[in-house]
Amino acid sequence: MAVLHLLVGTTSGNTEFLADTISDELIEQGFETELHYEPELEALPTSEPWLVLLSSHGAGDYADSMLDFYDEITAPQTPDLSDLNYAVIAIGESSYDTFCQAGRHCDERLQELGGTRMLERLEIDMLQDDPEQKAAQWIPSITDALKAL
Ligand SMILES: Cc1cc2nc3c(=O)[nH]c(=O)nc-3n(C[C@H](O)[C@H](O)[C@H](O)COP(=O)(O)O)c2cc1C
Repeated sequence: MAVLHLLVGTTSGNTEFLADTISDELIEQGFETELHYEPELEALPTSEPWLVLLSSHGAGDYADSMLDFYDEITAPQTPDLSDLNYAVIAIGESSYDTFCQAGRHCDERLQELGGTRMLERLEIDMLQDDPEQKAAQWIPSITDALKAL
């Protein structure tokens, strides 16, 4: 089975913790993962699936570790991601008008660039949800999607 690449967009570490937890669980279930803490488009194979975990900062901006990635996917010379299968977990707080805006943007942008969304975006509200519990409930959807590739 293909390697799942986890792209981690974090400023203060919450999303990194969540990505590590999800990766550990997937490995336990027999999947192979690779974590990218500062993802660079050039280093990411588009023939293998991606799981983007991205928190919003500023006014709906990408978290620090994915600011370069944002520049890469919005540059005038845009990449062709037509081989790509991906899913997004968006992290934020519902007190912001721009709730989960970075994850929503990334999800739409990857699709615009030709990627195929494997499943609906998961949005985690750090004010209301238990992130690990919500992710654990969602893991069967991603494992099913990966098995179907
Ligand atoms: C300065 C600041 C700005 C934020 N802006 C947003 C925002 O625009 N939308 C949102 O949904 N959450 C926003 N958040 C909430 C963060 O996404 C949330 O705290 C998240 O857990 C941070 O994840 P991280 O530790 O992986 O960076 C903001 C948090 C901070 C501290």
